[in-house]
Amino acid sequence: MARPLLVHDDARDFADAALAGLAQPQKVIPARFFYDRAGSELFEAITELPEYYPTRTEIGILESHAADIAATVGPGRAVIEFGSGSSMKTPLLLRAIAPAAYVPVDISAEFLQASAAALAADFPGLAVLPVAADFTAPFKLPGGIAGLPRLGFFPGSTLGNLAPIAAIDLLRGFATTLGDASWLVIGLDLAPGPGKSRETLEAAYDDAQGVTAAFNLNLLHRVNRELGGTVRTQDFVHRAVWNDVLGRIEMHLVATRDTALTAAGQHFSLDAGEHIHTENSYKWTLPEARLMARASGWVPVADWTDSEARFSLNLWQRDDGRMQP
Ligand code: TRP
Repeated sequence: MARPLLVHDDARDFADAALAGLAQPQKVIPARFFYDRAGSELFEAITELPEYYPTRTEIGILESHAADIAATVGPGRAVIEFGSGSSMKTPLLLRAIAPAAYVPVDISAEFLQASAAALAADFPGLAVLPVAADFTAPFKLPGGIAGLPRLGFFPGSTLGNLAPIAAIDLLRGFATTLGDASWLVIGLDLAPGPGKSRETLEAAYDDAQGVTAAFNLNLLHRVNRELGGTVRTQDFVHRAVWNDVLGRIEMHLVATRDTALTAAGQHFSLDAGEHIHTENSYKWTLPEARLMARASGWVPVADWTDSEARFSLNLWQRDDGRMQP
């Protein structure tokens, strides 16, 4: 059920974006097209890989610190989760904080129904009020939580798949949507540092079994399936590389030889070594994460990491806007 982001993904949108992206000097296919049915299943498999530490590390931090979150934010809140409920993380948080209501927000009505039903069955008596919406645009919270204090929940380091400007805009939007006196619990994956090597990070996006490679290459299969494409997928390999200057893992599809393709009747070609950029996953140090909070209308109150400082869980309080010196 974990499926990270932005899945506005209709056929027309895919055709327009793929053709425009392939026509650029640096070819690109946007990451939001990863999550068709095959891609969603591959993503689910990624979260269970030995190399993909974020999911289980974040769960471990939640297990250790959900009680700290509860002690700080108090009971009786409406929990608003951005993205469809993740099968393990959401119950860990809800059980600890004794909320009054749970509002999962997801663009996919299908994912939303499934996660809302599962949650409601596990928490009898909890008001579960799903909202089908694109949470990257302004949306309305259900009337049923009027007057309840809010706690936003945004796990999975999904924020990292947005460019920094868009990430700040999204966090500011969360502050507006959640309103006065709200809190936010957000999972953020950490940059390499003491205890976390670049290799650990790159392996999480390039596993030995090749599941992440299949996930990335699925974009080319989609071009063939949906745009009547003639991509020689065997001419491409998956590559994941840490970009230290920009602070992000990049995923690319690299041509291993000169290759030509058509998509929706248009011709494109790549020289050997040329690549299609498909995703970024930004990583932060804790000071960077705290500054990002301040820059987007939040005040960092606490953050926790695992013993190897691979991943962080962050508790932020909405900036009350009072005068500062
Ligand atoms: N947001 C998560 C991350 O960046 C999940 C994710 C998105 C992901 N796309 C991915 C994980 C591609 C592996 C490969 O880690």
